[in-house]
Amino acid sequence: MKAVAKAHTNIALIKYWGKRNDELILPMNNSLSLTLDHFYTTTEVQFDERLANDMFIFNGEQASEAESTKISSYLNMVRQYAGVKRNAYVRSINHVPTSAGFASSASGFAALAAASTKALGLEVDKKTLSMLARQGSGSACRSVYGGFVEWEKGNSDDGSDSYAKPILPEAEWDLRVLSVLLESKAKPISSRKGMKRTVETSAFYSGWLKAVDQELAEMKKAIHTKDFERLGEVTEANALKMHATMLGSQPPFTYWQSGTVSVMEEVQQLREAGIQAYFTIDAGPNVKILCLPEDEQIVRDELEKLPAVKGIYGCRPGPGIEYQDYL
Ligand code: ADP
Ligand code: DP6
Ligand code: CO
Repeated sequence: MKAVAKAHTNIALIKYWGKRNDELILPMNNSLSLTLDHFYTTTEVQFDERLANDMFIFNGEQASEAESTKISSYLNMVRQYAGVKRNAYVRSINHVPTSAGFASSASGFAALAAASTKALGLEVDKKTLSMLARQGSGSACRSVYGGFVEWEKGNSDDGSDSYAKPILPEAEWDLRVLSVLLESKAKPISSRKGMKRTVETSAFYSGWLKAVDQELAEMKKAIHTKDFERLGEVTEANALKMHATMLGSQPPFTYWQSGTVSVMEEVQQLREAGIQAYFTIDAGPNVKILCLPEDEQIVRDELEKLPAVKGIYGCRPGPGIEYQDYL
C-alpha cells in the first residue's frame, strides 16, 4: 500500500483567481497553464493500519501542526472516495520554493493525489485524478498533464465537471520560461486568502471576470497557431488584470515588491530593443518571463544585471504526473 509520484509545477498564462465554492475548490473562471520541467514535488504515501495517526514528513522534517492537519483532511477526502479508513505515512520533497509564488501547491497536491490513490490500489483515470488534485489546491488539477493545459471551471454544484484537459503536449512547442527569484520566503498572504479577499471585496473583480473569457479564447488561438507574440501579449495583460483586482480589495494588498517592478521594466526595455519577452506573475513577488529559445541567453544576461535578482531558473515545457519506485 505504498506509492511514489512526481508532479511538476505549472505557470498560469490565464489565471485562476477566485472560487465559487471554497470547500470543493470550484473556480469562478477557466484558466490555462504551462507545466514546467524545472520545478517539481515527489511524494511517497504509505497506508498502514498500525498507524494511530497520519504522519507527514516534509522536506525531511516533521511538518508543522497546521500543515499536517491540511494533509490529513485532504487524505480524509481520498479515504472517503476509496472507502478505506487506515492512516498514512507521507513523505514529500519540494524541488521548488514553498509558498513563494512558484506554485508548490500545484505540484504538491498533484503528487499527493497521484501517490495516495495509487497506494490505495485505485485505478483512476486522468480526469478523476485532476478532480481529486483540484480538491487539494485548484492549480494542482492542471499539473496532472504536461504542456499547455486548460482547467474547465464546470457549471455543476458538485464539481463533477470541473477538471483540467490537455491543450498541447509539452513536446509540441519549445518555449522558455525564465523564473526569476527575488524572494524565496513564504508570502504573507496565501493564494487561498488572497483570492478570497478579492472575490469578497474587490471593486475590480467584476472587470476581471468580464475580460477573462475573451483572453482565454485569444490564448487558445495563439497556442494553436503558435503565435508567440500574441501568446505573450495576452499572458501579460491577463496577469496585470489579476494583480489589479488586489489593489481594489478591502483592505488593499499586492504581492509585488520593488524588485518585481524592476523586472517588469526590464522586460519592457527588452521588447523595445526588439526581443520578444513577456512577463507573468502569480501570487507572489517573483516574476516569470516567457521567451523563445534563441533569446533565452540575452534575456538572462540582462536580468542578471538587476540588483534585486537572486537567481534565474530556466524552464521548458514539462511533463504530467509520473510514478516512480522510490522517493
Ligand atoms: P504556492 O505559490 O507555493 O503555490 P500557496 O499559498 O498557493 O503557495 O500554497 C502553499 C501551500 O501549499 C502550503 O502551505 C502547503 O499547504 C501546500 N503545499 C506545498 N507543497 C506541498 C507538498 N509537497 N505537499 C502537500 N502540500 C503542499
Ligand atoms: C495566482 O491554486 O494556489 O497562481 O486553490 O486556494 O490552493 P488554492 O490556490 P492556488 O491559486 C493559484 C493562483 C495563481 C493563479 C493560477 O495558478 O492559476
Ligand atoms: Co499555489
